[in-house]
Amino acid sequence: GQSEQETLFDINTEVARYFSNNLLNDDEGQIAREYFQKRNIKVQTMRAFGLGYALNGWENLVSFLKQKNIDLEKALQLGLIGRNKDGRVYDKLAGRIIFPIFSPNGRVVAFAGRKLREDDTGAKYINSPESIIYVKGRVLYGLSFAKDEIRKLDKAIIVEGYMDLISLYQAGIKNVVAVSGTALTDEQAQLLSRYTKNVVLLFDADTAGIAASMRSIEILLRKDFDVKIATLPAGEDPDSFVNKYGKEEFEETIKRAENFLEYQTAYFEKQGMFVDPTKAAEAIRELVKPIAIIDDELKRNILIKAISKKFNLREKLLEKELEKALEQEK
Ligand code: CTP
Ligand code: MN
Ligand code: MN
Ligand code: MN
Ligand code: MN
Repeated sequence: GQSEQETLFDINTEVARYFSNNLLNDDEGQIAREYFQKRNIKVQTMRAFGLGYALNGWENLVSFLKQKNIDLEKALQLGLIGRNKDGRVYDKLAGRIIFPIFSPNGRVVAFAGRKLREDDTGAKYINSPESIIYVKGRVLYGLSFAKDEIRKLDKAIIVEGYMDLISLYQAGIKNVVAVSGTALTDEQAQLLSRYTKNVVLLFDADTAGIAASMRSIEILLRKDFDVKIATLPAGEDPDSFVNKYGKEEFEETIKRAENFLEYQTAYFEKQGMFVDPTKAAEAIRELVKPIAIIDDELKRNILIKAISKKFNLREKLLEKELEKALEQEK
């Protein structure tokens, strides 16, 4: 027989096909087709990313699974269905738009379901729980679609969301991966480093996005990435931006990406850290800290010089701070 993993992959593949068919061909799928149309997603793109729709109701998927003789216990394990107190099984993603999540080799490891209307109940996205084929922190959404282009361009753009990646791909920007809402993990950085050492972070221009950028910088530096950060106008995300302003404007935004030091400096400035000396000293130390992570001594020196120049501080002083930070790193 086949391994447990293989069985679970096969179930996900069948279910992905079922969701996709609902979206493309079912009468009820009309509502989801309209949804994607409003968001400027073409049918070809829906097919490329295996997008789908989970029919509304308690047991549409359950019936499909039974009809296909799929072990319901396994479907429970994959989080496709749930079981209530009296033992009845029910569809977990009912009435939602479906995004299959692929392994780097293109196998379906999980699903995300987005609600159709902002005022529908429940979380905006429901994601499959972890399973023996899905460890969240080890998956980068879209990597199977992006890896060749990332290698070719020797650069990856990291975005937050499913729709960000899909809209960029449709616009012809294909060297993109999505972290799916959280800050980047060590394992995701490790995975990406197989394809490139150059990244541009392009998170949503909101509080959560800025916080996620700041946290991701260190993680990437530890894996020896060259890290740049691009910023969007307030309130935009890559999906909304590329649909509003187009590919050329998007590429300009990427070209304007700052190195992590410039980005962090601007961030502390915006927070008013440089108005009083205590906070300013704290900010300078925060700026020096990530520099200590960098292996390349010449790079470190260049960055220290930049701080020295920008704040008119003696280099010797900053070097001392760097030494302290290097000690911490050991
Ligand atoms: N996310 C999640 N669960 C939530 C909210 C968000 O897993 N309840 C993840 C999803 O991967 C989502 C990403 O975080 O794509 C970014 O969240 P957000 O910016 O709120 O959503 P968008 O991707 O912009 O989705 P949309 O454009 O459809 O609103
Ligand atoms: Mn957001
Ligand atoms: Mn969005
Ligand atoms: Mn977003
Ligand atoms: Mn290193």
